Amino acid sequence: MTKTVTTTPYNDQKPGTSGLRKKVPVFQQKNYAENFIQSIFDSLDGFNGETLVIGGDGRYYNREVIQIAIKMAAANGFGRVLVGRGGILSTPAASNVIRKYKAFGGIVLSASHNPGGPTEDFGIKYNIGNGGPAPEKVTDAIYARTKTIDSYKIADVADINLDSEGSQDVEGMEVVVIDPVADYAELMEQLFDFGAIRRLLSSGFRIVFDAMSAVTGPYAKEILENRLGAAKGSVLNFIPLPDFGGHHPDPNLVHARALYEEMMGDNAPDFGAASDGDGDRNLIIGKGIFVTPSDSLAMLAANAQLAPGYSKGLAGIARSMPTSAAADRVAEKLGIGIYETPTGWKFFGNLMDAGLVTICGEESAGTGSNHVREKDGLWAVLLWLNILAVRQDSVQEIARQHWMIYGRNYYSRHDYEEVDSAAANGLVDALRAQLSTLPGKNFGALKVATADDFSYNDPVDKSVSNNQGIRILFEGGSRVVFRLSGTGTSGATLRVYIERYEPDSSRHDIDTQEALADLIAVADEIAGIKERTGRTEPSVIT
Ligand code: G6P
Ligand code: ZN
Repeated sequence: MTKTVTTTPYNDQKPGTSGLRKKVPVFQQKNYAENFIQSIFDSLDGFNGETLVIGGDGRYYNREVIQIAIKMAAANGFGRVLVGRGGILSTPAASNVIRKYKAFGGIVLSASHNPGGPTEDFGIKYNIGNGGPAPEKVTDAIYARTKTIDSYKIADVADINLDSEGSQDVEGMEVVVIDPVADYAELMEQLFDFGAIRRLLSSGFRIVFDAMSAVTGPYAKEILENRLGAAKGSVLNFIPLPDFGGHHPDPNLVHARALYEEMMGDNAPDFGAASDGDGDRNLIIGKGIFVTPSDSLAMLAANAQLAPGYSKGLAGIARSMPTSAAADRVAEKLGIGIYETPTGWKFFGNLMDAGLVTICGEESAGTGSNHVREKDGLWAVLLWLNILAVRQDSVQEIARQHWMIYGRNYYSRHDYEEVDSAAANGLVDALRAQLSTLPGKNFGALKVATADDFSYNDPVDKSVSNNQGIRILFEGGSRVVFRLSGTGTSGATLRVYIERYEPDSSRHDIDTQEALADLIAVADEIAGIKERTGRTEPSVIT
């Protein structure tokens, strides 16, 4: 039986950079998840009888919301739901399932790299039929609907068994519980030379992959250990836990510190990597060298044709604005297009659908390609391994040679987390007010060339996104960018992105923070970070 339940709107259901993210107790309020899911359905047209994909990263509250979403999909007229066994689907795997089975769309339950648990984060994101995050016109419509919603529809049935694969009926809708790993692993086998990687791994080349007690555990075990023959034990923390073992499942130098230390040690393996809560981010560390996400994008793009899936070359490359310009130099050399988009993977979707770009990346540890419409952590790991297997060079050698050819973009991001929202907004407003007077000004040896608030004109659908980050560009290619995070759940997070281009290969060995010291000081001088936030140090440096 289907019932219609009366409800009242919540006024805080505005999707951010990546869907609706809130603390679990917020989602546990009466009808909170139901309101949002019904608002998604109410904003869509033509899904009657169609397929919906549902899955999540296994965090606390995942199963509860999956039950609700399935019952609501049945009541709203979907014909079929594909759901990962145990409610599990990594974000890239969900994107693949949507595309492969020509689903109408998908609901992905995740708060990505944010902590999980009864008082930690949860999230709901809607992906469209191309497998990618819904574009702004859809998320805006969803938000508008959340403000007026007065009822939702749900099937009044017992909970669905999520733990055995196969088909069940829920009020006339078919629910198919699928193996979350199989389709994804098959896709990876099509893109990469598994034979070459297997030979590399059997030749004594040692890898370590930290799944951070999050969703990539089962994927990495199956692909790296079972199919590619990495030594048993190469995949760490491979059991997904609802609270990620109490850690932040964020693969950066702070939260994956142990991996970093191991890779810098005397007895380091040859290749280290990690992924985040929902499997779309990646961290790449070679023996003795951390590869920044911006560099990783450039190096992967420069060598991608060594993998079978990219042997015909790339159509183009896209990066988010705060990501370093290292990839631009590769695109220039390859004679292909380079696109600069606002932060958020959703902006790459149109470019990939239109065939303008093949590989995309963001400084926030996201890299991916047109094989799906999400960034993909394990994909980046496998492309690196494919390149290492073919080139027979170490990560160090690949990085050094790359810098020699293209120059090095020294790059770092300084985050000030949980800053008072008013102070953060005040800082950005004050920067905006200075934009017209900055060009031509000198700060020590640095001279401001241009300063603006980034606007993006989507070349495909012609939509315009304003206020996407303050950019201050100096003569010679150095740059400081300021923006407020769109993914936090408490207070504001100020991100400061600092970049300096160094063409001279005799100067490619400087410590990054040292190489950027003058720019870091100027960033504070221009924005008044210390004064306005009361912080003397960033909370995270990546
Ligand atoms: C998520 C999005 C990314 C984005 C990142 C950082 O991971 O999927 O596309 O780059 O968040 O966003 P933020 O707004 O916190 O800087
Ligand atoms: Zn993520």
